[in-house]
Amino acid sequence: MAATESQHRIAFVDHAVDIGGAEKSLTELVKRLDPNEFCPVLLHSNNAKWLADGSWGEFTCLPVFGPTQLLEKKRTEVGRGLLRSLADMSASAGPVFSIWRGLMRAEADLVHTNSLKCHLLGGLAARLAGRPLVWHVRDILTAQEGLNLLKRAAMSFKPRIIAISSAVAQQFADLPVTVTLIANGVPLDKFSPGPPNPQLQAELGLAPEDEVLCVVGRLTPWKGHTTLLEALSLAAPRHPHLKLMIVGEVAFWENSYERELKDKIDDLGIAGRVIWTGFREDVPELLRLCDIFVLPSVDEPFGRVLVEAMGVGKPVIGTNSGGVPEIIVDGETGLLVPPKDAEALAEAIEQMLSDPLQAQQMGEAGLNRARDLFDADRVADQVQDVYREVLAAN
Ligand code: UDP
Ligand code: GLC
Repeated sequence: MAATESQHRIAFVDHAVDIGGAEKSLTELVKRLDPNEFCPVLLHSNNAKWLADGSWGEFTCLPVFGPTQLLEKKRTEVGRGLLRSLADMSASAGPVFSIWRGLMRAEADLVHTNSLKCHLLGGLAARLAGRPLVWHVRDILTAQEGLNLLKRAAMSFKPRIIAISSAVAQQFADLPVTVTLIANGVPLDKFSPGPPNPQLQAELGLAPEDEVLCVVGRLTPWKGHTTLLEALSLAAPRHPHLKLMIVGEVAFWENSYERELKDKIDDLGIAGRVIWTGFREDVPELLRLCDIFVLPSVDEPFGRVLVEAMGVGKPVIGTNSGGVPEIIVDGETGLLVPPKDAEALAEAIEQMLSDPLQAQQMGEAGLNRARDLFDADRVADQVQDVYREVLAAN
C-alpha cells in the first residue's frame, strides 16, 4: 500500500522465520495504526513463514534478510566472545546494507526494530540512513556479554526504547536513554470467555470429568515444561482425572528438547495424562477447554499467553520471575511460584483444584485486569504516541 503525503512511513524490521509472541504483538499493533497518520512497511526475512497466514494483507512487505551467522544465534549466544561478535558483525554487513536499501526504498520516516538482532542490524542501518529509531525490546538478556553488546549499541544508535515490561526496562536503567514501558496488547475480542467446544474436547481425548492444565508456547527449555511435568506427576496421585495439554512446537534448532520432554513423560509414567497438540492456530478455543493455565518459564520477558488465558477468563499460575509478576497479581488474578520449583508448582495447582470457587474468582479478576491493562487497542495508542514524540523531535 503506497503512503499518502500526510502519512509517516514506519519501517518495521523483524528477522523471524517462525511466529512467536514478538511477531504476534507486532501484527496486532500494525492492524491498529491510524491509517490517516501512519503507513507501515515490513522488512523481513526471505523465508518468513510467519507471514503465510496473510495477516499483513494489504501492507507492504519487503524481504531483505538472507541467512547470516548472527541471525541464526539464540538470544543467549548473542555477544558471546569479542572475536565471535566481530565475526558475526562482518558477516552481518550484507543484511545491514539490505536493510538500509529497504529503508531507502520504503522512504521510511522512522525505523521500528522488533527483535534483538534487528536492534543491532536495523539500528546500524537506520543510523546509516539517518532515520530516527525505535527499539521494541522484548528480551531479557541473561548473558552479560549479550547485554553489554546491546547497551553499547544503545549508546551508539541512541534509540527511543519501548520495553514490554519493567523487568525488560530495568536492563537499561544505568544508560542515558529514554525508555517507555508499554505492555503487549492482546486482541481481547478473540481471546474472550466462552463455553468449551465439545467436538474439540473429544478430538483431543478429553473427558468432561477431566481437570485440565494447559501450557502454550514454544518448546524451548526456558519455558519450563520439565518443571510442569514434574509438578503434574507430584499432583497426579491425588487427582486421577488431572491432564496436561501442551500447545506449541519445537523450534528447528531444538529438536532434542522434544525428545527430552517425551523421555521425561515416560520416566514419570504420566504418558496417559499428557496431550500434545503441536502448533495450533485455535489457541482461544484450546484455552476454553482448560481449568488452569500454567506458564512455568524462567526470566520470561512478558508472556502474551498469560494475558490470552486471562482474556478467556482462566485462572493462571506463573513464576515469580521476569515480567510475569507485572501480569499476575499473586492471590488475586492467579498464583506466582518460584521458577524451577516443581513442588511449589504442584502445591499451587492443588490449591486451585481444591477451591474451584476461588479459582473462578481469580479468572474473573484476571479478565478485568486484562481488559484494563493489556487490550491491543490501548497498547497501539501508546505506541503511536511514542512515534509522534520521536517524529516531532527529529
Ligand atoms: N502460539 C500459537 N500457537 C501455538 C503456540 C503459541 O498461536 O501453538 C502463540 C500464542 O498464542 C502467543 C504467542 O504464540 O500469542 C507466544 O507468545 P509469548 O509472548 O507467550 O511467548 P514467546 O514465544 O514470544 O516467547
Ligand atoms: C518475546 C518474549 C515474550 C514476549 C514476546 C512479545 O518473544 O519471549 O515473553 O511476550 O516477546 O513481546
